[in-house]
Amino acid sequence: MKKIILTTVVGLGLCSNLMASTGEQLTQKCKSCHGINLKKAPFGRASHVLKKDENTYKVLIEKIKYFQNPEEDDEMVMKYQVNKLTYTEIEKIAKYISELK
Ligand code: HEC
Repeated sequence: MKKIILTTVVGLGLCSNLMASTGEQLTQKCKSCHGINLKKAPFGRASHVLKKDENTYKVLIEKIKYFQNPEEDDEMVMKYQVNKLTYTEIEKIAKYISELK
């Protein structure tokens, strides 16, 4: 009996680990607009952030948090991409994008 309970607990632990999304998974849906390398700003806009430099991680977090509650109408596109993300997910996305080559 003890063995069965232990197996179940370990099994559940593994499952919840697998369900937590990685930065790569979380950025899949961004690619339709930002391109396969996530370097593009859509609709002819200049991108400051998606080009990488040493501040990219920090700036990405700030931008994404801002887009969760943006002020301009034309930023609403981004709002619906990111408004359900948790802070941990935003950190994963920023880390993943800033480390892309
Ligand atoms: C439906 C198309 C679309 C999708 C999908 C999308 N974005 Fe965007 N994104 C935009 C548009 C449009 C802008 C420009 C918004 C503005 O600045 O007014 C933008 C801007 C940005 C910027 C700011 C770029 C800069 O240099 O200032 C970041 C960062 C960003 N998006 C990240 C993401 C991430 C991360 C995802 C996925 C979770 C994502 N986007 C998904 C359309 C999209």
